[in-house]
Amino acid sequence: MLTLGIETSCDESAAAVLEDGVELLSNVVATQIDVHAKFGGVVPEVAARKHTEAINLVIQQAIEDAGVRFGEIELIAVTAGPGLVISLVVGISAARALSESLDIPAVGVNHMEGHLLANFIIKPEPELPAVCLLVSGGHTDIVFVERSGKYKLLGGTVDDAAGEAFDKVARLLDLGYPGGPAIQQAAENGDPSKISFPRPMIHKKNLNLSFSGLKTAVVNFMHTSKEKIGREITISDIAASFQEAVVDVLVKKTLSAADECGVSTVMIAGGVAANGPLRMMMKQECDRAGITFFTPPFEMCTDNAAMIAKTGYELLMNGRNGLELTPQPNCSL
Ligand code: KG4
Ligand code: ZN
Repeated sequence: MLTLGIETSCDESAAAVLEDGVELLSNVVATQIDVHAKFGGVVPEVAARKHTEAINLVIQQAIEDAGVRFGEIELIAVTAGPGLVISLVVGISAARALSESLDIPAVGVNHMEGHLLANFIIKPEPELPAVCLLVSGGHTDIVFVERSGKYKLLGGTVDDAAGEAFDKVARLLDLGYPGGPAIQQAAENGDPSKISFPRPMIHKKNLNLSFSGLKTAVVNFMHTSKEKIGREITISDIAASFQEAVVDVLVKKTLSAADECGVSTVMIAGGVAANGPLRMMMKQECDRAGITFFTPPFEMCTDNAAMIAKTGYELLMNGRNGLELTPQPNCSL
């Protein structure tokens, strides 16, 4: 069974073809990063216009790369939310039009469930129940995964998402957009022990997180240490110290959640899950705790349509209703 996935929730126009929920035949992503980088962040109107330009080409390419014909597709899965309304509507309209003309069902998918289920595209699949850290530009959630479709939010950020903190701090340090990869790269030449940034809420018993205080700590450091920056302390040192603080908190809280839930599987997903030090430290700490660690390959951490196709397929197989085919900017898992 062939599923066509479509994703346009933010600044990537993506389409993918998945066979029987496991065999990824194509995975096309047209990124708009270069356009938004000039503005230092995503400009919704520009994103929507770029999606409109790209979406037909991206879908066509996904079909071609997969070596299939439109007539062979049996299900369309499209991101219905969360995301930018005027971006979501482009993918949803394309899905509706294809569904009508091909006379096949289209299901609306939750983008965050897509990120989570990206862990199940590659074999071997994670064993459930599990704890998943969902970290992207808009979300930082710790989720108990009982089975596909049955999730419980254990904790999450009370203010900024981790990706948002990466993006804001990168802007402060003049490292460009998107901030996550820029900070990771700058940090490679830095000393993470140079500045002791706070680890917000790390000792709190609950599983909530906070990143806005950490961002403020970087702002304050930049003001108070002006004369040292460029001499005793480099921008790379600041990037490395900030990154280590974020990674420390994410790893500690996720392992606490795994311990509380008594699970032996931990997963991470979402754009920030592409972060090298996060992947490395989470693996190290999971190994130490006797927990099996899963993460999608890099290209399936950041936004893509393979994860959307996978989720649409799971919805169908489990007899679950998809989301309504209208933009749902704030829907939760
Ligand atoms: O999942 P995603 O592509 O889009 C959303 O659903 O938000 O995540 C984008 C976020 C951005 O904030 C970006 O800076 C961050 O993921 N990101 C990273 C890395 N690659 C992307 N953060 C840290 N390290 C990375 N290597
Ligand atoms: Zn995303």
